[in-house]
Amino acid sequence: MSTEPTGTHIVSRSHELRVALKGLRKSGRTIGLVPTMRALHEGHLSLVRAARAECDIVVVSIYVNPTQFGRGEDFDRYPRDLEADTGYLSDLGVNWVFAPTDAEMYPAGFDTWVQPGRIAERWEGEFRPGHFRGVATVVLKLFSMVGPDRAYFGEKDYQQLLVIRRMTEDFNVPVTICACPTVREPDGLAMSSRNAYLSPEHRRQARVLSQSLCSAAESVASGERSAKNLVTAMRSIIATAADAVIDYVAVVDPNTLEPVSSVTGPVQALLAVRIGGVRLIDNLRLTPPEVSAPAPSPE
Ligand code: PAF
Repeated sequence: MSTEPTGTHIVSRSHELRVALKGLRKSGRTIGLVPTMRALHEGHLSLVRAARAECDIVVVSIYVNPTQFGRGEDFDRYPRDLEADTGYLSDLGVNWVFAPTDAEMYPAGFDTWVQPGRIAERWEGEFRPGHFRGVATVVLKLFSMVGPDRAYFGEKDYQQLLVIRRMTEDFNVPVTICACPTVREPDGLAMSSRNAYLSPEHRRQARVLSQSLCSAAESVASGERSAKNLVTAMRSIIATAADAVIDYVAVVDPNTLEPVSSVTGPVQALLAVRIGGVRLIDNLRLTPPEVSAPAPSPE
């Protein structure tokens, strides 16, 4: 019989974690996994809280995955503070922090990759070639190592969420993918580890991202149905920030991520913008009122 785990254990070896979780799984405990890359903020903690509320055992992985960063990206300066991160996780009642080394995740001779398909081609896939291959590969490895019943991801990385859902389904991984809403700063900026790179002036300018998305949502609510008009309006709001450089702004089908021309049902607005060289992404579901309104009750 396995006893109730107490405290937060930090492990770096997947074998150690597998042994610890084996008995708990056998005794029927459900396991929740929250994959992270350190520099934990409220967005991550909201995933951990959801896992804590829904699962018996919570595992948080902390691993800055080198294979999802392109050349010239911020891998080397990605914020790392394992001690602070484990402090937050222990306060939230996390049972295991899995912090593997590179040698554990990519041992010598590692040579097999998950190559996501169409869902990964556009948007982030276009601007960050190889990114989703790295994400899908490391997430599949984490699923194999931890064997979670449920795994938690933020809607902030909307395309990543769809890539992981597709991969999980295509490879028949027995895990439920749970999506949690984007957590925002009081002025609307989506929480991201990369916000820490913004200077105070660029942090102020970064408000245009959420402002443009909210404005699109309001336009749809008041009858705008042209995706082209929505994108034009979003672009002009973003352009009010002096140092903003747009990678993409798009209105897309929320399941396929293909651009739509008119809003005939729920759509997803996606954007990626560099502000003072810091690349930020955000997105929002836009739902026309005739779709979101409750169906009229039968006569
Ligand atoms: O969203 C992230 O932090 C990462 O892409 C993930 C899912 C932990 C994989 O490294």
